[in-house]
Order: sequence, then structure tokens, then C-alpha cells
Amino acid sequence: MTTRPRSLLRLDEIPLTAVAQFMTTASDIECGRLDCSTMLSGEILVPLFFQESSRTYLNSSAAFMRMGGRILPVVIDNTRLNSRWSEPIRDFCELLNSCCDYVIVRSPDVDKVLEFAKWCEKPIINAGNGFGAGSEHPVQTLVDLYVIQQFYGTSPLNILMIGGKHIRTTRTQTKLFHRLGHRVDIIPSKVTVDNYDMDDFYSNNTNEYNDVRTIDLTQYHVIYHNGADEDHNARPSDNVKLTRDLLASRLFNGIVLHSLPRLQELATDLDDTPFNAYYTQMRKAKLVFKNVFTYLKANN
Ligand code: CP
Repeated sequence: MTTRPRSLLRLDEIPLTAVAQFMTTASDIECGRLDCSTMLSGEILVPLFFQESSRTYLNSSAAFMRMGGRILPVVIDNTRLNSRWSEPIRDFCELLNSCCDYVIVRSPDVDKVLEFAKWCEKPIINAGNGFGAGSEHPVQTLVDLYVIQQFYGTSPLNILMIGGKHIRTTRTQTKLFHRLGHRVDIIPSKVTVDNYDMDDFYSNNTNEYNDVRTIDLTQYHVIYHNGADEDHNARPSDNVKLTRDLLASRLFNGIVLHSLPRLQELATDLDDTPFNAYYTQMRKAKLVFKNVFTYLKANN
């Protein structure tokens, strides 16, 4: 009988005191108060990405290597996990147990990451699992919180979320922001998959609006866009589009976050404005990953 590792699968199971500690540790690493450059010396991370990623793959790998660890890269199509063989996850986990110390998993299926966490003896980091009911993106949300707190500290904020309520980032962020006492308003785009486990939460804890062009943007500290659609060819409707002209003309005075990648819902003319906090998110994600590895090492 093996003991279950402390993995990072969702933020709901992390107490707010631990979330606050995440923020402090990330800040300590950023300011040089905590040196973690050799903390993972001799340790190995296996990134298992069943779905594309730019930021999560590179930032997690870079963070691990800058902590002295090494990456054992895996191309899913070259393993027996591929669609031709579909090797049982339990069998692959038996292999992982003797090959590495940490595993980060992204999957278009909600359950696959949980299946790895069930069978693997090593800590699993959920790098985003699916869409709709059960899906989460915990590390992205810790990154978002870190950036927001760098701009505004820990005081209660008004946050406008835009995009699909079924998107894993929106789901995890909204729950955490609400737990922290922030007001969360939403301009939703169409929900394309079953999202039943969040329906009551959204109804009870968020205000819904239709059009970013008609609401008072001066009341918000943060506009968080998570994308309107997963379809690369879809053209977002104007009610969910952010442009420089819109934010300036509506006297918005806060920051814009976006988990990225973007389609046309986030105009590139925002990139060189003070509204842009999404590039800060991308850069600072490494700090939060370092912090996640520090947390998992301390808890395993
Ligand atoms: N924000 C995010 O998860 O980006 P990637 O899909 O590029 O990893």
C-alpha cells in the first residue's frame, strides 16, 4: 500500500492560508529572499501534454530547470499512451514511479489527469484538464492572483470576467476570486459543453452582463478575458471584444489580464499600453511554478 502524494489538482482543496503562503513564497523568490536554485538538484520532471501548450509547458520546464532539476521530455505520440495503443494509465504510472519525481499533466479530457493522480506515486500537477464540468487550471489561477496582488495588494476588488463560463481558467479563477472576497461580474460567451457543476455557483455568486461596450468600466480594477471560443476560426462578437479605443473611451483605469493564447477578442493595439498585464502574467508564471514545486516538495 503506497501513501497518496500531495498533488496540485484543483484549488478548492487548498486552504486560503496556503494560497496566501504561495503568494508570499513567490514574492520571496522574486525579491531574492528565497534562493531555490538548487532545491530540485538531482530531481526529474516528466511533462505529459496530451494537448498543446506554450506557456504552461515552457514556464514549468524553465522553472524546474532553474531550481536545479532536469526534464525528461515525453512526446505522447511516441509512447504507448498514443491513440493507437492507448496503454492503460496505471501501467504507465508504474513506469513513471521509477523514472521521475514530479509529473505535470495537461489533457483535453477532464478525467485523465485525475487518473494519473490516482495511480502515480509521484506528485501530479494539473496543467489544465478539459473543459466544462470538472475542469480546472490551478497554476494559471495562482499566477493570475500573484499578478493581481502585485498591482492591488489584497484588498477587495471588482473583477470583470469575459468569456466562456465553461473554460477551465474561468471556472478556477472565479471560484478563487470569490473565496478571496472579490466581486466578480461576468460577460459570458456561449457555453459549448456541459458545465452543470458550476451553474449554481455562477447564479449565486456572480452578476451577469451582456456587452462590454455598454457597462460602466470605471468600477473595475481588473478585466480578465479568457477567450470567447475554442474554435480558431470563430470571429468573436463585438460585445466581448477588448480594444484600446474601447477601454480609453470608457475611461477604464485598471489592468487587463488574459490567460492566452488569444484570438481576436483581445486586440493587439492593447499590447503597448498600461492596460497590458497579460505579458506580466506570462513572465511571472515561472515564479509561481517554482513556488508550486517548493510546496509539493515540502508536502511529500
Ligand atoms: N495559459 C495557458 O495555459 O497557456 P498555454 O495553453 O499556452 O499553456
